[in-house]
Amino acid sequence: MEKTNLIKKILEIKEAKNAVILAHYYQVPEIQDIADYIGDSLQLSQKAAETNADIIVFAGVHFMAETAKILSPSKKVLLPDLDAGCSLAASAPEKEFSEFVKQHPDHKVITYINCTAAVKTWSDVIVTSSNAVKIVESFPKDQKLIFAPDKNLGAYINGLTGRNMLLWDGACEVHETIRTESIFQLKLQYPDAKLIAHPECKQPVLVLADFIGSTSAMLDYTATDSCKKFIVATETGIVHQMQKLSPGKEFIVVPADETCSCNDCPYMKLNTLEKLYLCMLHEKPEITLTDDVIEKARRPIVRMLELSKNS
Ligand code: 13P
Ligand code: SF4
Repeated sequence: MEKTNLIKKILEIKEAKNAVILAHYYQVPEIQDIADYIGDSLQLSQKAAETNADIIVFAGVHFMAETAKILSPSKKVLLPDLDAGCSLAASAPEKEFSEFVKQHPDHKVITYINCTAAVKTWSDVIVTSSNAVKIVESFPKDQKLIFAPDKNLGAYINGLTGRNMLLWDGACEVHETIRTESIFQLKLQYPDAKLIAHPECKQPVLVLADFIGSTSAMLDYTATDSCKKFIVATETGIVHQMQKLSPGKEFIVVPADETCSCNDCPYMKLNTLEKLYLCMLHEKPEITLTDDVIEKARRPIVRMLELSKNS
């Protein structure tokens, strides 16, 4: 089916079935353009918690759709491609993670939202890149903490807060491929550009950045800062909204590697308009979780939402 027809059909089904389409900034532009809400991980979970729709169509990855299901268990949650996983979530299998937690009974467990629902059940509180510092700071200074699964984000927060959180050894395969060599080259080419980076990047990249933040924080920064050129160290999808919000500015995505476009998240990019249409038509693939997992994983997510109010 051609693109305009697909979009028409998607919008018709959405209306008829009282569905809402939530899309992450790393989705392909045509999906971002038909979504009801686009956002970072925190904003999308807030939307999922408050929607009146009967069906939540999550144009994102599996852990995001699971979070939506946990927050709105009575709703049908659809993910266009069930293989849309996340290397960070995959780096913390529940069995190993639960054993690690049990080995450290005096530690509170802070878990990045990029993890499975099963791992969330072992957590005291969930964080995203937009609220992690605030939530870590909400614990007393002498409280021992585990941070999982992203070691880069964890190290960055340790540096900012002076904490010494025990870090799980996980990383995002997309952000890990962003290298300082490519950044130095771009800085030579665009000396008047500012470097913005997602905190999932490695520390040598982060120390070079003029601004570090979640996808939505980077978007706000590029829209409000007076600089006209930005070197962008994150997944490519975000540039679509940056360009829309600031048409007069230039955005240069750091190439991950000369040989590949590795900073296209292979999981985020599994979703297509065609798959979105088919999943809305057939109401599958659907996210299902046991009541027990929903109940246990909900607590740390709700705690995060409470602690994120007014942030
Ligand atoms: P945020 O949009 O919350 O910054 O997360 C980035 C990410 O990697 C999502 O998988
Ligand atoms: Fe996971 Fe990285 Fe893809 Fe985000 S960009 S979904 S952290 S693999």
